[in-house]
Amino acid sequence: MVKQDPEDIERLFAAARASRARAYAPYSGFPVGAAVLTENGQIHAGTNVENAAYPAGLCAEAGAIGAMVAAGETRIAAVMVVGGGHELVTPCGVCRQRIREFATPDTMVHVGDDAGVRRSFTFAELLPFAFGPANLGLSGDHHDE
Ligand code: THU
Repeated sequence: MVKQDPEDIERLFAAARASRARAYAPYSGFPVGAAVLTENGQIHAGTNVENAAYPAGLCAEAGAIGAMVAAGETRIAAVMVVGGGHELVTPCGVCRQRIREFATPDTMVHVGDDAGVRRSFTFAELLPFAFGPANLGLSGDHHDE
């Protein structure tokens, strides 16, 4: 089930925006906040954490997913990404794959800036025909267990 309770989306947005304010992004100057809402109604947030060795930097989505898994949850009901600039801050390709592990094709991915949500996508719009557990001969999605 895709959770679209407006109050949940508001909480999700607030968490992502608060995380964005704590970004460690001295190299790009591009702070990003992300948050995931789980099917249990819990919210886990993350921010981008850059590094002087540039490729060691982590995206905000990676942090949010790590916090979710560390809290014992693996089912994403919705994702929020908050960033700046004119363009929509949609998750990078690697993060789309990270989300894939814990989402379904109809999981909503909301993107916005500090003022609010600008656009919402289904996960399938962002990563159609995604590689996943079934490709490895596993019984299906972890999400569907
Ligand atoms: N970034 C994220 O954290 N999430 C996104 O969805 C897009 C990009 C970060 C990575 C890097 O620290 C900075 O934004 C510029 O690419």
